[in-house]
Amino acid sequence: VPTYSPCRVAFGCGMSQTNRRVGFWLIGCFGSVSTTVAVGIAAIARGLMPTTGLSTTLPPLASLELDSLDHIVVGGHEIRKGDFYSAAHEIHKKSQIFSIPLLESIKADLDSWSGNIRPGLLVNAGVTIEQFSDQSVRPNNSLRAGILAIQKDIQDFQTRHHLDQVIMINIASTEAIFKDRPEYHSLETLNAAIDQDKRELLPSSSIYAYASIEAGYAFINFTPSLGASIPALQQLAIQRNVPIAGNDGKTGETLLKAALAPMFLARNLQVLSWVGHNILGAGDGQVLADPANKSSKIQTKDAILPAILGYKPQTHVSIEYIESMEGWKTAWDHIHFAGFLETKMTMQFTWQGCDSILAAPLVIDLARLVLHAHRRGESGVLDYLACYFKSPQGVTEHDFFKQVAKLHSYISQVER
Ligand SMILES: NC(=O)c1ccc[n+]([C@@H]2O[C@H](COP(=O)([O-])OP(=O)(O)OC[C@H]3O[C@@H](n4cnc5c(N)ncnc54)[C@H](O)[C@@H]3O)[C@@H](O)[C@H]2O)c1
Repeated sequence: VPTYSPCRVAFGCGMSQTNRRVGFWLIGCFGSVSTTVAVGIAAIARGLMPTTGLSTTLPPLASLELDSLDHIVVGGHEIRKGDFYSAAHEIHKKSQIFSIPLLESIKADLDSWSGNIRPGLLVNAGVTIEQFSDQSVRPNNSLRAGILAIQKDIQDFQTRHHLDQVIMINIASTEAIFKDRPEYHSLETLNAAIDQDKRELLPSSSIYAYASIEAGYAFINFTPSLGASIPALQQLAIQRNVPIAGNDGKTGETLLKAALAPMFLARNLQVLSWVGHNILGAGDGQVLADPANKSSKIQTKDAILPAILGYKPQTHVSIEYIESMEGWKTAWDHIHFAGFLETKMTMQFTWQGCDSILAAPLVIDLARLVLHAHRRGESGVLDYLACYFKSPQGVTEHDFFKQVAKLHSYISQVER
């Protein structure tokens, strides 16, 4: 089997090196994004791939004391049986990304990390997600016991691998929308509801978030699911001195919206309508084909235009599952706008991307930045990370460039 020869780009290029060892605890390990995260960390750490796509390897972010990729250990929870190597092969076969020689060169890392995967938790997931599960999942007794089991898995992982820090990152399937409930509004009421084993109360993403934050681990929600976006969990994060960030990685069509809408505004071009049609395959596409799960995604994709433009043009967002697309996504956007003397014009773009290849570097960037924040004693919602999210917690600013400026201003404060 041919192996890659190191090193196209010297490993560590643009990265601050430290001796710390850190753990990435991924929820939904054998999904496309998580598997691509694992492949990416191993390939870059071994000097087999360049750091293209990782914003933390470029100035000014590279000036922060971030964790080196060869000091990361991967573990996590899944509701499906499997291992990283087989999952990566499957993705290669279906989506034509990675390469067999690359996967052979990092097989030892992937196999070792597969040994860190534990059965996940599945509560109120709905039939579309439940059908993925092929092993016994938590909670098998009470909600509280399920939380303790999740925490024990992470603590054992930390001890076994002598890790200085661990971060939980939710990259599991998108859950349906959970409406606001009185129990969400204070930690006291939430704790009481958990103790009463009210299982209908929270989706899995929020129970994972609770377990992580309560045990003192930072939490990132890369999905549109509820996660830690309820007041009670934000309160818990402050109380436990834990930083949190979310929701829903901004990787494709929404990234373009956030970058293009400020241009229309700056030139006083009035956006009359913005229609976005998205087609995608793979597991994410399959889950989003369920109208309940789809509505979570549409909500995060559709909210940003009025926030940037200051008025609400007619918008339409559609997401359709097209099986043959596998891990690839096409977005076609039609923007109808009025210019000088009320003349109507059109801009159209087509975005063709590989979903997991777009998402994985953001997950790695975010985890490195949030681990850094945790070491600095930051807690609660990290609003300066808004540029990475479609629906950033605690932020109403959706202009991509203003969000990036906020991140850069944070970096200059850290450096001062
Ligand atoms: N560009 C992108 O790919 C992108 C951008 C933003 C957000 N996201 C979000 O990231 C998530 C993952 O996307 P993907 O393409 O990897 O999806 P996927 O379907 O390939 O993977 C999801 C994985 O989560 C697992 N899972 C589901 N519920 C779980 C639970 N309760 N506990 C543990 N594991 C569970 C599934 O078994 C599956 O392996 C989705 O929510 C997606 O919307 C992706």
